[in-house]
Amino acid sequence: MTLYEQYTDKLRRIADVNHSIAVLSWDQETQLPTKGSAIRAQQLSTLAGISYELTVSKELGDLLQQLQANANTLTEEQRRNVAHTVKLYNKKQKYSKEFVIELSRTTSECFQAWRKAKAANDFSLFAPSLEKMVDLKRQECEIIGYDDHPYDALLDEYEAGEKTANLNVLFADVRRQLVEFVKEISDHEQVASDWMYKHYNKDKQWNFGLEILKQMGYDFQAGRQDVSAHPFTTSFGSTDVRVTTRINENDFHEMLWSCIHEGGHALYEQGFKTENYGLPAGEAISLGIHESQSRLWENNVGRSLPFWKANYKNLQNIFPENLNTIALESFYRSMNKVAPSLIRTNADELTYHFHILVRFEIEKALIEGSIEVKDLANTWNQRYKEYLGIDVPSDAEGVLQDIHWSHGSFGYFPTYSLGSFYAAQFYHQAKQDIPNLEQAIASGDMEPMFNWLRTNIHQHGKLFSAEELCVRLTGEKLNFKYFMDYAREKYAYIYNLAPSLS
Ligand code: CO
Repeated sequence: MTLYEQYTDKLRRIADVNHSIAVLSWDQETQLPTKGSAIRAQQLSTLAGISYELTVSKELGDLLQQLQANANTLTEEQRRNVAHTVKLYNKKQKYSKEFVIELSRTTSECFQAWRKAKAANDFSLFAPSLEKMVDLKRQECEIIGYDDHPYDALLDEYEAGEKTANLNVLFADVRRQLVEFVKEISDHEQVASDWMYKHYNKDKQWNFGLEILKQMGYDFQAGRQDVSAHPFTTSFGSTDVRVTTRINENDFHEMLWSCIHEGGHALYEQGFKTENYGLPAGEAISLGIHESQSRLWENNVGRSLPFWKANYKNLQNIFPENLNTIALESFYRSMNKVAPSLIRTNADELTYHFHILVRFEIEKALIEGSIEVKDLANTWNQRYKEYLGIDVPSDAEGVLQDIHWSHGSFGYFPTYSLGSFYAAQFYHQAKQDIPNLEQAIASGDMEPMFNWLRTNIHQHGKLFSAEELCVRLTGEKLNFKYFMDYAREKYAYIYNLAPSLS
């Protein structure tokens, strides 16, 4: 075996273990009987241990060194794969065993405390363990290292190459432009949406969701959909990528958007080349790019008028009692209703970014030490007032609403907004590249959109960084302008705003 073949072999073994973990986790969320949970936790923990040992093994380290010494024998693609693995390997070597154990213990403790605090609606029950967590995360920044800002070290975990300084500029734009724009919208008459909350039969919703997934190009020979409490996508390799959804019979939004959103994530994972299984070239670039794939389908396509020109008649036929008297245009407006709200996961596609802005500012400040955990709930509530204009009535609906910080996931939140902003820029480019894209969508033909994503994004896996991909595709780095242009055009129509001058 050549060195590179040995490397491929090792990475595939790690992938086999990780994907087995994924299968067991998927089963845990969708099928597992109650009594099975204790032994399942043990199985998952054993496999996680094996995966970790393989990832940090001296054997792998030696092999990577040899590969780097013989880099001239490798193709460009092989070199890029190896570089990714080296980066990850070196990063893992920086952690002491004590630190890993301490972090893992604190994560369990923190998660339990968060659950209790949320149920009791009392942030003070969460604060002590969150303090420990923040302290560990500050240490982690020093362990990993950074050039400019400690938060950069954490961002890199989710969005390789992204910098705090970039995000400061981006979110300053969100603050300046989007806050104003949403104010302008709220001065106009609100759109009606009461028909979305009538009774929608569960099975009929399920079948409609499957039809939409099929239309998007989701391959049911390489995946399946199930029900879970929190919708997610999981991959066991590009030939088996599963999605889950949830159905609320009194709120048609839930199934619809989770189905399209997870479908977008799944198309990305199904689009990796099978020969790249286990290699960086067969993995997602970053969470932001992953999210761009779900948001593009959810917002740019799924919440567009062309999409419903293709699908609304069918939906009316399935739920005539709810929708027969509702015109297509009214239906389209109702699904794009903008209204400030308390809970991030229920937010519309514009005010959503204020939720992220608040979290970004707070977690950055926590990591740099400019605010402390004890001030968190107050700061949270003040910012919600300032950006969204709403009073937060309780910790449970405020600072305790998300699981992320209890898991130690600092640096994760910004990737949600990045996803939407990349999506807007990519979609803008797709419209330039594909003549009549929206006419095709309006006729129910999603193939041009699907093919464009597969050719330009999916098949490359991690071979390009997020920035390289964006520049290759659109000729420039991520630019917030595309999101604002998209938002202005769309919502001017929906809310009858005066045409914008810009
Ligand atoms: Co997502």
